[in-house]
Amino acid sequence: MTKKRVAVLISGRGSNMTALIEAAEARDYPAQIVLVLSNEPDAAGLTRAQLAGIATVVVDHRPFAGDREAFERTLDDTLQMHRIDLVCLAGFMRLLTPWFVGRWSGRMLNIHPALLPQFKGLHTHRRALEAGAQRHGATVHFVVPEMDSGPIVLQDSVPVRDGDTEETLAARILEVEHRIYPQALRLVAEGRVTLASATAAAREQ
Ligand code: GRF
Repeated sequence: MTKKRVAVLISGRGSNMTALIEAAEARDYPAQIVLVLSNEPDAAGLTRAQLAGIATVVVDHRPFAGDREAFERTLDDTLQMHRIDLVCLAGFMRLLTPWFVGRWSGRMLNIHPALLPQFKGLHTHRRALEAGAQRHGATVHFVVPEMDSGPIVLQDSVPVRDGDTEETLAARILEVEHRIYPQALRLVAEGRVTLASATAAAREQ
């Protein structure tokens, strides 16, 4: 089995990145995390990745002063240089242009802390509580140009409990995230779920 070469893109603490790194340590896992890329020089996840012996690269978006395509060309060059097969966005807080998304179409995943299509965007836990949701969850999906909208690879949910706060709910959802992201990456790396199959499955619903 040739393992897929995966880059994880982060901006912060990198707990999902860590879950992917740990899963990929298993011998039979079909992917290896070979690169962690952050747009934030101080992202805590960088240290964790280095401890695991994984190559890290910082591409700070600020010097690009709003030239998104130049920023993304640098991201893309870095990914090519490391011969990346699959990209996992894990708390990567930059919006990506259709150009970049197109280049990685069918080869880029994102994790979103909600049961998509519910609660796209930010502050999902607060909004789930405000909406009185009975269940709340997390979703791994293929990235398409429209934010938080790509075909779903995997999602799972947990009950919202009486007395839940944004923090307690976030912690419960994070456990779901850490479970489903490695499972979803496995499915995609093994070719058992593709952009085409996930798109077809979405149409059948
Ligand atoms: C996660 O909740 C993820 O779903 C969202 O951003 C958060 C990143 O957390 N997109 P971490 O950096 O993986 O700990």
